[in-house]
Amino acid sequence: MPAVDRPIGMFDSGFGGLTVARALIDLLPGEDLVYIGDTGRYPYGSKPLDEVRSHALELGHSLVDALDVKAVVVACNTATAAAIDDLREQLPVPVIDVVGPGASALVRVSRSGRVGVIGTVGTISSGAYPLAVAEAASNAGASVELTSAACPGFVEFVERGQTTGDEVMVLAERLLAPVRSAGVDTLLLGCTHYPFLARTIADVMGPDVVLVSSADETAFAARDRLGELGLLREGSAVGRHRFLSSGDVDVFRELGSMLLGSELDATSRWPLPT
Ligand code: DGL
Repeated sequence: MPAVDRPIGMFDSGFGGLTVARALIDLLPGEDLVYIGDTGRYPYGSKPLDEVRSHALELGHSLVDALDVKAVVVACNTATAAAIDDLREQLPVPVIDVVGPGASALVRVSRSGRVGVIGTVGTISSGAYPLAVAEAASNAGASVELTSAACPGFVEFVERGQTTGDEVMVLAERLLAPVRSAGVDTLLLGCTHYPFLARTIADVMGPDVVLVSSADETAFAARDRLGELGLLREGSAVGRHRFLSSGDVDVFRELGSMLLGSELDATSRWPLPT
């Protein structure tokens, strides 16, 4: 099959990458997508980065070798933090990450230069965001002060389908305290699960703080990169979307269709290596 007609591949530890899938489907409705949710090994955010790197490389190679994708979107900040350089070195297709696009948008949107990022323990402790934000600021000739906060527990709420309510609010008030007291004017949701909690996060941060989603920014970056490489599909055909899960496929289909929408009407099993 000509490269342009192959699907875009993407993966996440679970449901979070569906925020990126939603943005990609809306922005590029003619593209076929294949998504692997690694719910059999979720969560990534509390695992050692070496372990996440090995899962990310395995999934990246599988998307290319078994599912014949034309590009890989790493729809997970933790996997990006752990493995992006190795993925780019090893895979023979373009690899789009979530950290760089989010960091650029954060710098672009902020007025005061006081910015925040929230993510998993793995992402925040990796130091990937301070590096990416410093690079984005230097490219933009801007000066920024970054406050980071890990938010353990947020992902677990999303994976249970519990995206609002008192329990989420109490946890958000506690975990967002550092970025609130730093007086940030812009907050990057540096985990692809977090846009599902955006209402609670916005409520806690207050109306003067702009939330930036790494999911939306990544979809724009994917469109730009595929366009540069002549890999965007032309015409009015509607793309096909496949969803695979390494965990319980029924749970993935049910909760996934609630979170993503009607495009997720079936889920197949993605077998993990034994
Ligand atoms: N969605 C993933 C991210 O963007 C993390 C989820 C997890 O901890 O498994 O970092």
